[in-house]
Amino acid sequence: VASRRPVRLALVGFGSVGRRFAAHLLGNYGRILRRLGTPTRVTAIATARHGAAADPRGLDLRRALLLASKGRSLESLDRGGPFTSAADFVKRAPADVLLELTPLDPQSGEPATTHVALGLRRGLHVITANKGPVAFALPRLRSLARRHGVRFLHEGAVMDGAPVFNLVARCLPGIRVLGFRGALNSTTTRILARMEQGLSAGAALREAQAAGVAEADPRNDLDGWDAAVKGCAIANAVMGARLVPSQVRRSGIAGITEKDVRLALAAGHRFRLVVRGKRSGRAVEVTVAAERLPAGDLLVTPGCDGVVVFETDLMGEIGIWEGVGGVDQTAYALLSDLIAILERPRPE
Ligand SMILES: NC(=O)c1ccc[n+]([C@@H]2O[C@H](COP(=O)([O-])OP(=O)(O)OC[C@H]3O[C@@H](n4cnc5c(N)ncnc54)[C@H](OP(=O)(O)O)[C@@H]3O)[C@@H](O)[C@H]2O)c1
Repeated sequence: VASRRPVRLALVGFGSVGRRFAAHLLGNYGRILRRLGTPTRVTAIATARHGAAADPRGLDLRRALLLASKGRSLESLDRGGPFTSAADFVKRAPADVLLELTPLDPQSGEPATTHVALGLRRGLHVITANKGPVAFALPRLRSLARRHGVRFLHEGAVMDGAPVFNLVARCLPGIRVLGFRGALNSTTTRILARMEQGLSAGAALREAQAAGVAEADPRNDLDGWDAAVKGCAIANAVMGARLVPSQVRRSGIAGITEKDVRLALAAGHRFRLVVRGKRSGRAVEVTVAAERLPAGDLLVTPGCDGVVVFETDLMGEIGIWEGVGGVDQTAYALLSDLIAILERPRPE
């Protein structure tokens, strides 16, 4: 990526995360990037139902945000399309870096995996906050990035902006990760924590839904599927595994009753949905299950949306903890990946 001319960014997906990132680019992120000598310009945006727009000289981002906030199409801004599909957009939009920000299909990792692959094949650096490509296709995408001399980064895929992947990749050189355990699904953590305070499972779920933490259809969270996808993403990225989520032995929190929670609490224990990864011979195994943990365990740290602890050969246990995770933290993950690419554009 050249350091003088503005770096061109294409966003596929302009929902909560894409728009928050764009809004920050107009403010503090833009200032940070200019200070680093690498100004950026959003040159293309695609959505599913709100059109796509490209302009090689840079889109009017303020206008794009205004249109999006009113639910209107972006097409009036287009000076470079039209595009026939999101795949066509990824193949042709003017860009140096593609940000893949579409929703996760937890059963397949698509269409994000295809978008990432098409971007890398075209020689674009790719950043995603979508765990699908990391959980379903990381080895293939990493090798595509190497072959095309670009980088594929995904810090926002697990625990928002907390540096889970960078902790190992950047801060622990030479380390071998032997295993990990984490409470990575904030919906189940919040539901179990509210049940500890006396709420019924149903009321705790309804509260999480009203707060926008749980989906209208919460099965992905409650059945442990979201946690399985995150566990695969971590195992693939930091332990060199080649797992897909269907290989994870998985159960959820549906069987945990208020009585179980009460009895555990009386004994100084708490339930959490725990993702574990461990080496088993040359393979890596990931499991997801509700576990009863002593109250002092790191995974039951109060007031925390996510925590992961790595077991390593040279550092013993080392972990990372996130207070509240959300859209701002995920937008920050995109900024941190972008800065990493601008500073080190060669594949590692
Ligand atoms: N929200 C968070 O706090 C958070 C945290 C960590 C990770 N993430 C991940 O970040 C990604 C984006 O999340 P979000 O909350 O921004 O999602 P969102 O609000 O649902 O927005 C998704 C965007 O993608 C567009 N889109 C959907 N399908 C598409 C397709 N096939 N081709 C092109 N565009 C498509 C949508 O278009 P329309 O506007 O037309 O609907 C929308 O603009 C997800 O993978 C999510 O798991 C989110």
